[in-house]
Amino acid sequence: MNTPILTLEDRFRLKEKVAVVIGGAGFICSSLSKAFLESGMKVAILDQAKEPPADLSGRVLFLSVNATSKSDLLAARETVLKEYGRVDLLLNGITANAPTPFLEIGEEEMDRILGANVKAVVLACQVFGETMVKNKSGSIINFASASSGPPLSKAFIYSAAKAGVMNITQNLAREWAPFNVRVNALRPGFFPTEWSLKHFIDEERKAKIMGHTPMKRFGKPEELVGAALWLASDAASFVTGSIVSIDGGFTAMTI
Ligand SMILES: NC(=O)c1ccc[n+]([C@@H]2O[C@H](COP(=O)([O-])OP(=O)(O)OC[C@H]3O[C@@H](n4cnc5c(N)ncnc54)[C@H](O)[C@@H]3O)[C@@H](O)[C@H]2O)c1
Repeated sequence: MNTPILTLEDRFRLKEKVAVVIGGAGFICSSLSKAFLESGMKVAILDQAKEPPADLSGRVLFLSVNATSKSDLLAARETVLKEYGRVDLLLNGITANAPTPFLEIGEEEMDRILGANVKAVVLACQVFGETMVKNKSGSIINFASASSGPPLSKAFIYSAAKAGVMNITQNLAREWAPFNVRVNALRPGFFPTEWSLKHFIDEERKAKIMGHTPMKRFGKPEELVGAALWLASDAASFVTGSIVSIDGGFTAMTI
Protein backbone atom coordinates (compact mmCIF):
# COMPACT_ATOMS: atom_id res chain seq x y z
CA MET A 1 0.00 0.00 0.00
CA ASN A 2 1.29 3.46 -0.89
CA THR A 3 1.06 5.64 2.19
CA PRO A 4 1.63 9.29 1.32
CA ILE A 5 4.67 10.75 3.05
CA LEU A 6 3.51 13.68 5.16
CA THR A 7 5.74 16.42 6.47
CA LEU A 8 5.65 17.15 10.19
CA GLU A 9 3.68 20.30 9.40
CA ASP A 10 1.15 18.27 7.38
CA ARG A 11 0.67 15.83 10.24
CA PHE A 12 -0.29 18.54 12.69
CA ARG A 13 -2.28 20.61 10.18
CA LEU A 14 -5.80 21.37 11.41
CA LYS A 15 -6.58 24.32 9.15
CA GLU A 16 -10.11 24.18 7.69
CA LYS A 17 -11.02 21.05 9.68
CA VAL A 18 -14.41 21.27 11.37
CA ALA A 19 -14.76 20.73 15.12
CA VAL A 20 -18.04 20.11 16.93
CA VAL A 21 -17.54 20.91 20.60
CA ILE A 22 -20.35 19.77 22.88
CA GLY A 23 -20.16 21.68 26.16
CA GLY A 24 -18.01 24.35 24.52
CA ALA A 25 -19.38 27.07 26.78
CA GLY A 26 -17.84 25.32 29.79
CA PHE A 27 -14.57 25.81 31.63
CA ILE A 28 -12.37 23.33 29.77
CA CYS A 29 -14.05 23.13 26.37
CA SER A 30 -14.26 26.90 25.86
CA SER A 31 -10.48 26.96 26.24
CA LEU A 32 -10.11 24.04 23.81
CA SER A 33 -12.51 25.73 21.35
CA LYS A 34 -10.28 28.79 21.39
CA ALA A 35 -7.25 26.62 20.64
CA PHE A 36 -9.09 24.94 17.74
CA LEU A 37 -9.88 28.38 16.29
CA GLU A 38 -6.27 29.45 16.69
CA SER A 39 -5.26 26.32 14.77
CA GLY A 40 -7.43 27.42 11.85
CA MET A 41 -10.32 25.06 12.50
CA LYS A 42 -13.96 25.95 12.05
CA VAL A 43 -15.74 25.44 15.36
CA ALA A 44 -19.37 24.69 16.18
CA ILE A 45 -20.24 24.88 19.87
CA LEU A 46 -23.29 22.97 21.09
CA ASP A 47 -24.25 23.79 24.66
CA GLN A 48 -27.33 24.28 26.81
CA ALA A 49 -26.10 27.82 27.49
CA LYS A 50 -28.03 30.51 25.68
CA GLU A 51 -24.94 32.16 24.20
CA PRO A 52 -21.25 31.43 23.67
CA PRO A 53 -18.54 32.69 26.04
CA ALA A 54 -17.91 36.37 25.28
CA ASP A 55 -14.42 35.82 23.81
CA LEU A 56 -15.79 33.27 21.31
CA SER A 57 -18.82 35.27 20.25
CA GLY A 58 -18.95 35.78 16.48
CA ARG A 59 -16.04 33.37 15.96
CA VAL A 60 -17.95 30.09 16.26
CA LEU A 61 -21.23 28.64 15.11
CA PHE A 62 -23.14 28.52 18.39
CA LEU A 63 -26.15 26.22 18.81
CA SER A 64 -28.15 26.02 21.99
CA VAL A 65 -29.07 22.34 22.52
CA ASN A 66 -29.87 19.80 25.18
CA ALA A 67 -27.15 17.27 24.41
CA THR A 68 -29.10 14.47 26.09
CA SER A 69 -31.76 14.78 23.36
CA LYS A 70 -31.11 12.92 20.11
CA SER A 71 -33.52 15.13 18.18
CA ASP A 72 -31.63 18.26 19.33
CA LEU A 73 -28.36 16.70 18.20
CA LEU A 74 -29.78 15.64 14.83
CA ALA A 75 -31.07 19.18 14.23
CA ALA A 76 -27.65 20.57 15.22
CA ARG A 77 -25.90 18.17 12.82
CA GLU A 78 -28.07 19.41 9.98
CA THR A 79 -27.11 23.02 10.75
CA VAL A 80 -23.41 22.21 11.08
CA LEU A 81 -23.40 20.32 7.77
CA LYS A 82 -25.30 23.13 6.06
CA GLU A 83 -22.85 25.70 7.42
CA TYR A 84 -19.54 23.81 7.22
CA GLY A 85 -20.23 20.78 5.00
CA ARG A 86 -18.39 18.22 7.14
CA VAL A 87 -17.37 17.16 10.64
CA ASP A 88 -13.77 16.17 11.37
CA LEU A 89 -13.65 16.34 15.15
CA LEU A 90 -16.19 15.69 17.88
CA LEU A 91 -15.29 16.76 21.41
CA ASN A 92 -17.75 15.44 24.00
CA GLY A 93 -17.40 17.81 26.97
CA ILE A 94 -20.65 18.12 28.90
CA THR A 95 -20.92 16.87 32.46
CA ALA A 96 -22.92 16.77 35.70
CA ASN A 97 -21.85 15.66 39.17
CA ALA A 98 -22.95 15.80 42.82
CA PRO A 99 -21.28 14.96 46.16
CA THR A 100 -24.37 13.19 47.57
CA PRO A 101 -23.73 10.35 50.07
CA PHE A 102 -24.40 6.98 48.42
CA LEU A 103 -27.57 5.98 50.29
CA GLU A 104 -29.15 9.39 49.61
CA ILE A 105 -28.69 9.48 45.83
CA GLY A 106 -32.11 9.84 44.24
CA GLU A 107 -33.30 8.61 40.86
CA GLU A 108 -33.52 12.08 39.34
CA GLU A 109 -29.90 12.77 40.28
CA MET A 110 -28.80 9.39 38.93
CA ASP A 111 -30.55 10.04 35.62
CA ARG A 112 -29.10 13.55 35.38
CA ILE A 113 -25.50 12.46 35.99
CA LEU A 114 -25.68 9.36 33.81
CA GLY A 115 -27.50 11.40 31.18
CA ALA A 116 -24.83 14.08 30.89
CA ASN A 117 -21.82 11.80 31.22
CA VAL A 118 -22.90 8.63 29.40
CA LYS A 119 -26.13 9.05 27.42
CA ALA A 120 -24.99 12.33 25.84
CA VAL A 121 -21.67 10.77 24.78
CA VAL A 122 -23.39 7.78 23.20
CA LEU A 123 -25.93 9.98 21.39
CA ALA A 124 -23.31 12.42 20.08
CA CYS A 125 -21.18 9.52 18.86
CA GLN A 126 -24.22 8.08 17.07
CA VAL A 127 -25.21 11.37 15.47
CA PHE A 128 -21.84 12.87 14.51
CA GLY A 129 -20.02 9.54 14.30
CA GLU A 130 -22.47 8.42 11.62
CA THR A 131 -21.33 11.33 9.46
CA MET A 132 -17.66 10.50 10.10
CA VAL A 133 -18.18 6.82 9.30
CA LYS A 134 -19.85 7.81 6.01
CA ASN A 135 -16.88 10.06 5.20
CA LYS A 136 -14.41 7.38 6.34
CA SER A 137 -12.59 10.01 8.40
CA GLY A 138 -12.84 11.58 11.82
CA SER A 139 -11.60 11.91 15.37
CA ILE A 140 -13.73 11.71 18.50
CA ILE A 141 -12.40 12.88 21.85
CA ASN A 142 -14.29 11.98 25.01
CA PHE A 143 -13.58 12.93 28.62
CA ALA A 144 -12.68 10.24 31.11
CA SER A 145 -11.59 11.42 34.55
CA ALA A 146 -9.22 10.68 37.41
CA SER A 147 -12.41 9.18 38.87
CA SER A 148 -12.80 6.63 36.03
CA GLY A 149 -11.02 4.15 38.29
CA PRO A 150 -9.98 3.59 40.94
CA PRO A 151 -12.83 5.94 41.92
CA LEU A 152 -12.48 9.14 43.91
CA SER A 153 -14.59 9.48 47.05
CA LYS A 154 -17.84 11.50 47.04
CA ALA A 155 -18.63 11.12 43.32
CA PHE A 156 -20.37 7.75 43.04
CA ILE A 157 -22.50 8.07 39.93
CA TYR A 158 -20.02 10.38 38.17
CA SER A 159 -17.24 7.82 38.73
CA ALA A 160 -19.37 4.97 37.39
CA ALA A 161 -20.28 7.14 34.41
CA LYS A 162 -16.65 8.05 33.69
CA ALA A 163 -15.66 4.37 33.90
CA GLY A 164 -18.39 3.88 31.31
CA VAL A 165 -16.88 6.57 29.10
CA MET A 166 -13.56 4.69 29.00
CA ASN A 167 -15.42 1.52 28.05
CA ILE A 168 -17.44 3.23 25.30
CA THR A 169 -14.28 4.91 23.99
CA GLN A 170 -12.44 1.60 23.61
CA ASN A 171 -15.46 -0.20 22.23
CA LEU A 172 -16.14 2.41 19.55
CA ALA A 173 -12.43 2.62 18.72
CA ARG A 174 -12.58 -1.05 17.84
CA GLU A 175 -15.87 -0.71 15.97
CA TRP A 176 -14.85 2.25 13.83
CA ALA A 177 -11.15 1.62 13.15
CA PRO A 178 -12.06 0.10 9.75
CA PHE A 179 -13.74 3.40 8.85
CA ASN A 180 -10.74 5.54 9.80
CA VAL A 181 -12.65 7.11 12.68
CA ARG A 182 -10.46 7.31 15.79
CA VAL A 183 -11.99 7.41 19.27
CA ASN A 184 -9.91 8.45 22.26
CA ALA A 185 -10.41 10.07 25.66
CA LEU A 186 -8.60 12.68 27.70
CA ARG A 187 -8.31 11.78 31.38
CA PRO A 188 -7.80 15.07 33.22
CA GLY A 189 -6.79 15.18 36.86
CA PHE A 190 -7.96 18.20 38.86
CA PHE A 191 -8.86 21.38 37.00
CA PRO A 192 -11.03 23.15 39.60
CA THR A 193 -14.09 25.05 38.45
CA GLU A 194 -16.14 27.49 40.55
CA TRP A 195 -18.65 24.67 40.99
CA SER A 196 -16.15 22.01 42.07
CA LEU A 197 -14.46 24.41 44.50
CA LYS A 198 -17.84 25.05 46.09
CA HIS A 199 -19.10 21.46 46.21
CA PHE A 200 -16.07 19.15 46.27
CA ILE A 201 -12.69 20.68 46.97
CA ASP A 202 -12.52 22.00 50.54
CA GLU A 203 -9.14 22.60 52.22
CA GLU A 204 -8.94 19.02 53.54
CA ARG A 205 -9.62 17.50 50.11
CA LYS A 206 -7.22 19.92 48.45
CA ALA A 207 -4.45 18.75 50.81
CA LYS A 208 -5.26 15.11 49.93
CA ILE A 209 -5.18 15.88 46.19
CA MET A 210 -1.83 17.67 46.48
CA GLY A 211 -0.45 14.77 48.53
CA HIS A 212 -1.31 12.47 45.63
CA THR A 213 -0.16 14.75 42.78
CA PRO A 214 3.60 14.61 42.14
CA MET A 215 3.50 18.07 40.53
CA LYS A 216 1.76 19.45 43.64
CA ARG A 217 -0.66 21.72 41.80
CA PHE A 218 -3.95 21.81 39.93
CA GLY A 219 -4.08 21.79 36.12
CA LYS A 220 -5.06 24.71 33.89
CA PRO A 221 -7.39 24.19 30.88
CA GLU A 222 -4.68 25.31 28.45
CA GLU A 223 -2.63 22.33 29.63
CA LEU A 224 -5.13 20.06 27.86
CA VAL A 225 -4.67 21.85 24.54
CA GLY A 226 -1.59 19.95 23.31
CA ALA A 227 -3.22 16.53 23.75
CA ALA A 228 -6.49 17.68 22.18
CA LEU A 229 -4.75 19.14 19.09
CA TRP A 230 -2.63 16.02 18.77
CA LEU A 231 -5.63 13.67 18.96
CA ALA A 232 -7.53 15.86 16.49
CA SER A 233 -4.70 15.80 13.95
CA ASP A 234 -3.17 13.24 11.59
CA ALA A 235 -0.17 13.17 13.93
CA ALA A 236 -2.31 10.74 15.94
CA SER A 237 -3.25 8.64 12.88
CA PHE A 238 -2.36 5.34 14.66
CA VAL A 239 -3.90 6.34 18.00
CA THR A 240 -7.33 4.97 18.83
CA GLY A 241 -8.84 3.58 22.02
CA SER A 242 -6.31 5.52 24.08
CA ILE A 243 -7.01 7.17 27.40
CA VAL A 244 -4.57 10.06 27.77
CA SER A 245 -3.87 11.16 31.35
CA ILE A 246 -3.14 14.84 31.92
CA ASP A 247 -2.93 15.03 35.67
CA GLY A 248 0.48 16.12 36.96
CA GLY A 249 1.26 12.46 37.69
CA PHE A 250 -1.87 11.69 39.77
CA THR A 251 -2.51 8.37 37.99
CA ALA A 252 1.10 7.28 38.42
CA MET A 253 1.11 7.85 42.18
CA THR A 254 0.73 5.32 44.97
CA ILE A 255 2.67 6.10 48.18
N1 LIG B 1 -12.73 20.23 35.57
C1 LIG B 1 -12.14 19.08 35.92
O1 LIG B 1 -11.38 19.03 36.91
C2 LIG B 1 -12.38 17.82 35.16
C3 LIG B 1 -11.65 16.67 35.53
C4 LIG B 1 -11.87 15.49 34.84
C5 LIG B 1 -12.75 15.44 33.78
N2 LIG B 1 -13.45 16.57 33.43
C6 LIG B 1 -14.37 16.48 32.32
O2 LIG B 1 -14.09 17.50 31.38
C7 LIG B 1 -15.30 17.88 30.71
C8 LIG B 1 -15.49 19.40 30.84
O3 LIG B 1 -15.58 19.72 32.23
P1 LIG B 1 -15.68 21.20 32.80
O4 LIG B 1 -15.04 21.17 34.15
O5 LIG B 1 -15.18 22.16 31.81
O6 LIG B 1 -17.25 21.33 33.01
P2 LIG B 1 -18.20 22.63 32.95
O7 LIG B 1 -19.31 22.33 33.89
O8 LIG B 1 -17.43 23.89 33.13
O9 LIG B 1 -18.75 22.62 31.47
C9 LIG B 1 -19.76 21.75 31.06
C10 LIG B 1 -20.56 22.41 29.95
O10 LIG B 1 -21.57 21.48 29.55
C11 LIG B 1 -22.78 22.18 29.37
N3 LIG B 1 -23.88 21.22 29.57
C12 LIG B 1 -24.20 20.53 30.68
N4 LIG B 1 -25.27 19.74 30.47
C13 LIG B 1 -25.64 19.94 29.17
C14 LIG B 1 -26.68 19.42 28.35
N5 LIG B 1 -27.56 18.51 28.79
N6 LIG B 1 -26.75 19.86 27.07
C15 LIG B 1 -25.87 20.76 26.59
N7 LIG B 1 -24.88 21.30 27.33
C16 LIG B 1 -24.77 20.89 28.60
C17 LIG B 1 -22.78 23.29 30.42
O11 LIG B 1 -23.65 24.35 30.05
C18 LIG B 1 -21.30 23.69 30.40
O12 LIG B 1 -21.07 24.73 29.46
C19 LIG B 1 -16.42 17.07 31.39
O13 LIG B 1 -16.69 15.92 30.65
C20 LIG B 1 -15.81 16.70 32.73
O14 LIG B 1 -16.40 15.55 33.29
C21 LIG B 1 -13.28 17.75 34.10
